[in-house]
Amino acid sequence: MKKTIGIVIALVVIVGVVVVLKNTNTTTLVANDTTNTVTTDTSTNTTPTVSTPATKPAVTPTKPKVAGYTMSDVSAHATASSCWTAVNGSVYDVTSWINQHPGGARAITGMCGKDASSAYDNQHGGQSRPESELASFKIGVLN
Ligand code: HEM
Repeated sequence: MKKTIGIVIALVVIVGVVVVLKNTNTTTLVANDTTNTVTTDTSTNTTPTVSTPATKPAVTPTKPKVAGYTMSDVSAHATASSCWTAVNGSVYDVTSWINQHPGGARAITGMCGKDASSAYDNQHGGQSRPESELASFKIGVLN
């Protein structure tokens, strides 16, 4: 009898261990499923991130376009507080140059709101320093 009871107890213990092990595996599987679900979401999120840089180059070609102005735009900036001038097909905002010009402020204020190509060329045509200074003030082309 004692042997039989011992065997029964052993069987109950073994069955119990098997049940516990099975539950442990189930839990692990559920945890893995959750991890897999998160991984899927992450790859879904990656897709729009890839799409965004693809959109940016489409905007970039627009930026190099040079601004175009008419003489009407230039003549709207004819004072020392906002001085635009047109020289040989380009438009310049020379407001900040008025008080820096070695040849005096009046020479520059005389250009404000006008096409001053002839005044500029007569004084500085072919001179490298005035040319490079002028280039630094360019805001666009004259249409
Ligand atoms: C935005 C247009 C202009 C720019 C960027 C400019 C720039 C310059 C620069 C950089 C100098 C010094 C050159 C040097 O020492 O090597 C200079 C001198 C001079 N500029 Fe202009 N200039 C402009 C327009 C004019 C105009 C329209 C006139 C005349 C109407 C003029 C008259 C003079 C004179 C007389 C000097 C000699 C000053 C001196 O040496 O005492 N400039 N300019």
